[in-house]
This record gives sequence, structure tokens and C-alpha cells, in this order.
Amino acid sequence: MTNFNEQNPPGSSLMTLTDREYCEIRDLVYDNFGINLTDKKRSLIVGRLQKVVRTLGLNSIAEYVEHVKSDKSGQALVELVNRISTNHTFFYREADHFDFFSQRTLPEAVAACQKENSKDIRVWCAGCSTGEEPYMLVMLMMEFFGSDYDKWDAGLLSTDISMNALRLAQVGTYSPERMTNLPEVYKRKYFKQQLSGDWSVIDRVKKELTLRQFNLMNKTFPFKKKFHAIFCRNVMIYFDRPTRMALVEKFYEHTRPGGYLFIGHSESLGRNECPYDYIQPAVYRKKIDG
Ligand SMILES: C[S@@+](CC[C@H](N)C(=O)[O-])C[C@H]1O[C@@H](n2cnc3c(N)ncnc32)[C@H](O)[C@@H]1O
Repeated sequence: MTNFNEQNPPGSSLMTLTDREYCEIRDLVYDNFGINLTDKKRSLIVGRLQKVVRTLGLNSIAEYVEHVKSDKSGQALVELVNRISTNHTFFYREADHFDFFSQRTLPEAVAACQKENSKDIRVWCAGCSTGEEPYMLVMLMMEFFGSDYDKWDAGLLSTDISMNALRLAQVGTYSPERMTNLPEVYKRKYFKQQLSGDWSVIDRVKKELTLRQFNLMNKTFPFKKKFHAIFCRNVMIYFDRPTRMALVEKFYEHTRPGGYLFIGHSESLGRNECPYDYIQPAVYRKKIDG
């Protein structure tokens, strides 16, 4: 393993990472964000860090590691996770969850609200990336409630660790490729096409999203009320088992009795690591008396 030196000028693809530096970065990312960087990710990380090193005008990845460790504000660490986290997402991903949400979760949430004389539908999209998933959930709620939507307090809490992703979610403008799977009816009703060909979410939908930076590794979750549904899809895939189990326990605590947890289809929770009842692939429910 070579270190950067005079023969490896910034910009050179030879700018590499020693084992020690990789371990330091891996530990920082695991300890602070729960993301488990295996050795398979090494070349990806080198590629991404080369860009940061150049942008910051540093000479090597070693200097960059020092920069992150010595920055007491924590900003450099957040920037690091912005660079290495994978924000891949698209509209209408794993669409059977959306049918389940409209046909089971929302009617049950309404029934629970009616019992309590409340109008507060609580949904959290944890790991919302650039906004495609939470905007979809808002559109589904608007479809479900129709003209009564405004009588309900039915917005959506959307959180992610990546400020870059949250900024894009805030803008809410997407290329046609990101929209390929989205049924035409949603496109026509809830988007405006720009001259560039991109599609922008209309303001009525946009204002229903509460976007916040939030690290799922935080010891405490600051939510006063519990959720009817939590979507945390394709996020825990980056966490190891103990981290996943601890997070699922926290989600459980913050789910209303009878409420749901949705995870990604390529993920699953073993019986022993899950206090929820299994309902169908990647859908779990908190016991009514839980
Ligand atoms: C692959 S995207 C999934 C987006 C969307 N949920 C979906 O299924 O299409 C994973 C997201 O998890 C976020 N993430 C990773 N670790 C996190 C953490 N510790 N706290 C909060 N968000 C995290 C990443 O920033 C990224 O935006």
C-alpha cells in the first residue's frame, strides 16, 4: 500500500489509502453513523475521497483524515458521510408497500384517530435521501383523503444524515429518468414540467414535507408522539446486526400500538431481532397491546 508522495500529485489516480487510514475512516464512520464499511467498499471510498482532497486543496488522504479528526465542529465529519453515503433512490420504488400503506395503514390510522378524537396522522420517512420516497407518501395521503386532506394533520417527517440529499429533496426537481416508474396520474397531478424537461413537485405537496437532518445513531429520538408508520427502507442495509437490532428497538418504542415499520425488500429482520410481528415481506407491525 503506497502513501501519497511527490510522485503522486493531487488529481493523480495513484492517490491511495493506507490500511491504517482506511481503518481510521472506517471507525469514524461506524462510530458516528453506524455505517459498516467493509473491505469491498475500499476502492469506492478511495474514489470519493480523492475528490474531497482535491476540493479542499489538500495533498493526500492522510491529510484529509487529520482534517476530519481535528475539526471540533463536527462539520468535516458530516461532510465525510455526505461523500460516502449512498443516496440511490427513485420514485415508486418497491411499490407494493405503497398499496399496503393506502389500503391498510391509512384506514387503520384513521380508525385509531377517530377513537381518540384526533386528526393527527404521524408518518416518518427515516433515511429519505433526495425526497422521492416521502413525496410519494404525501401524494398517497392526498389521494386517500381527497378533498378532506386539509382537515387532517397529515404531513410527513423526512430525515436523513446527508445534507446534500436533503437539499435536493428541498428543491424537489427530478430528471425524467428518476420518474420512469411513477404512474402517469401522479406525474400529471402533483408535478410541473420545467422547460428543461425535469419535473418539479408542486408547492402543495412540497409544503407537507418536514425535512430535517437526523442521525439514526443518536442515542435519543426527540419525538414526543409515536408514529402510525415508519419507513426505513434500504438504510439498515449499511448497518451491522447489533446496530440494526438497537435501531429496530428504538423504532418500536416510537411506533404506536398497531403501527407499521417498512424496511427495504432486500432486508429482513430475524424473528429474534424483531419485537414487531411479521406481516408480509419487509412489512412489520407493532402489537396492538405493545
Ligand atoms: C439508499 S438511500 C435509501 C433511500 C430511500 N429510503 C429508498 O429506499 O429509496 C439510504 C439513505 O440512508 C441515509 N443514512 C445512512 N446512514 C444514516 C444514518 N446513520 N442516519 C440517517 N440517515 C442515514 C443515507 O444518507 C441515504 O440517503
